[in-house]
Amino acid sequence: MSSASSQPTAGPDRRTVVAAVGAAGLAAALTACGSGDDSADAGPADAGTAATGAAPDGGGTALARTADIPEGGGKIFKDRGVVVTQPTAGTYKAFSAECTHQGCAVGSVKDGTIVCPCHGSEFSVSDGSVRKGPATKGLAPARITVSGDDIRLA
Ligand code: FES
Repeated sequence: MSSASSQPTAGPDRRTVVAAVGAAGLAAALTACGSGDDSADAGPADAGTAATGAAPDGGGTALARTADIPEGGGKIFKDRGVVVTQPTAGTYKAFSAECTHQGCAVGSVKDGTIVCPCHGSEFSVSDGSVRKGPATKGLAPARITVSGDDIRLA
């Protein structure tokens, strides 16, 4: 008679669970902020576009610090679906991280190009335009705001 061997109980990966909850929380917060209207001008923030750093929540969600984005390169935020670049010192751009070829997430930024790992398309960090196929359309621009050291997804 042998007792059933005890299987290792892996259980849920706690970090995964926490990350999932965090993402859901963010999504909920985004949804709550959006008030169901996709218009960028809606909301209480339209009174002071010239305000400089005084508003604690200038709209959008915090994405990165300017120091995170290498000059002449960029950084991919896969969970947000965007890539943020700094083509020249102090100029920040953002694009959709979804490759226009077949929808893979772009995988890296090097030598002034955003590279898709699936079939090797390359896009310019300056304007998202195609540097190398098979993609034929540039990356869609994404809206960010930069205030001080903070980069926010608009
Ligand atoms: Fe990006 Fe094909 S999906 S190159």
